[in-house]
Amino acid sequence: MNEHLARGWDEAAAGYEQYFVPRFRPWVETAVAQLGDLPSGPILVPCCGTFPELDLLLERFPDREIVGIDLSAGMVRLARERAAGHDQVSVVEGDAATLDPRWLRACSAVVSVFGLQQLPAPEQAIDSWYDALLPGGRLSVVYWPSVTEADGPFSLMRELLRPGPADPDPDLAAVLGEAVDEPVAFPITYADAGSFFEAYAHSGPMRATAIARGEAFVEELRERFLERAPEGEWTHHPAARLITATGR
Ligand SMILES: C[S@@+](CC[C@H](N)C(=O)[O-])C[C@H]1O[C@@H](n2cnc3c(N)ncnc32)[C@H](O)[C@@H]1O
Repeated sequence: MNEHLARGWDEAAAGYEQYFVPRFRPWVETAVAQLGDLPSGPILVPCCGTFPELDLLLERFPDREIVGIDLSAGMVRLARERAAGHDQVSVVEGDAATLDPRWLRACSAVVSVFGLQQLPAPEQAIDSWYDALLPGGRLSVVYWPSVTEADGPFSLMRELLRPGPADPDPDLAAVLGEAVDEPVAFPITYADAGSFFEAYAHSGPMRATAIARGEAFVEELRERFLERAPEGEWTHHPAARLITATGR
């Protein structure tokens, strides 16, 4: 399972950096903005992908040890390019679902954007991330819930790939006790439905499915998607969830 997912992201990495990273920037800014004053200690970034969180973290915390973790070798390569020249930054290729015990109650912050929804057991993962915090440390996690919008390319894609009612999301904030869980929506614009589909299928979360099911499946899906999508420029306002908590 992890192997397919990692290979999907290996092949998607460069396209993801080019197409989605600029569009997802407001959510990354929101996640980093939740950190406030931190105790001393390293900052962990599980599921860092190409590490778009890094520049914003370095602006706020220039001398901290900052550690990104990602499953995909392709993503880790691009993340390391971004980190080049910053000796206090490192990127680990590995599974961020359960953190290495060395991070237990050792971190000033754990920041993660758009990784949690991909993990098979998100409740356990967020619990393990919370346990990495020092007292006063901050957890800031942004993820896509199963329903992000009533109408738009994400909901159309979901309907075509997984028709029927969405599975209820686990109550992740409840796992942590005193956490704040809120929606965070921003607009995203695509030149047209075709360019969105191309990026989503080949440079995004669907890449692993496209590899597993083949190009004929992608072509058929593209036709059904374009039949129902609007013509011309397409803007939507998907709502992610932001979970924040302070270490005890
Ligand atoms: C949508 S990207 C987000 C990357 C980045 N945080 C951003 O905001 O652009 C999700 C990333 O999660 C990584 N990922 C998925 N499952 C993982 C796991 N179990 N452990 C570590 N990384 C994982 C993928 O390889 C991918 O790079």
